[in-house]
Amino acid sequence: MPTLRRLTQDDLPRLRQFWIEHWGGEEMIARGNVYRPEQLEGFVIEDGDEWIGLLTFFIKDGECEVTSLDSLREGQGLGSMLIDKAIAESRARNCKRLFLITTNDNLNALGFYQKRGFEIVTIYRSAVNASRKIKPSIPLVGMNGIPLRDEIELEKMLK
Ligand SMILES: CC(C)(COP(=O)(O)OP(=O)(O)OC[C@H]1O[C@@H](n2cnc3c(N)ncnc32)[C@H](O)[C@@H]1OP(=O)(O)O)[C@@H](O)C(=O)NCCC(=O)NCCS
Repeated sequence: MPTLRRLTQDDLPRLRQFWIEHWGGEEMIARGNVYRPEQLEGFVIEDGDEWIGLLTFFIKDGECEVTSLDSLREGQGLGSMLIDKAIAESRARNCKRLFLITTNDNLNALGFYQKRGFEIVTIYRSAVNASRKIKPSIPLVGMNGIPLRDEIELEKMLK
């Protein structure tokens, strides 16, 4: 039976390893900002010892940014559970909005977030090219065979 819990300091090595396996490095880059696991909070869904879902976030200046979201068993409600948890956490901590950056190739994520009340607010054209200079492991071609180029900001207003 999968269980959801908050990440702790003890999870940092595993979080770094998870990001290396799923995102090609232990840092996440968005809009030129570098996010490291030790700066972030998060929630993990576990099935026994296995991490099957992970969301990390960063709260600053009354806004919550989702810095990563992964479901390793898609279509079973894990992604929804994690995003609902992030919405509840943001509300509990008085954030006026929850936002995130995804990329132009990630059609699945663009659909997933919009169906859950997020709206596209900004397209940072060619921003991935800048991110790639900081993190060269970011591929040139992304999901769905689409050139990986733009960062897209989606937000959900909470107040
Ligand atoms: C985007 C992502 C997090 C979604 O996670 P997920 O676990 O598949 O999400 P869910 O299972 O909650 O929802 C996916 C679909 O499955 C459906 N679903 C959920 N539980 C279901 C169930 N028990 N039976 C049938 N369908 C179900 C949902 O309704 C949803 O469809 P909808 O979007 O049309 O409403 C996941 O695809 C992922 O990790 N992608 C790769 C990493 C990524 O792109 N992350 C986001 C980058 S910003």
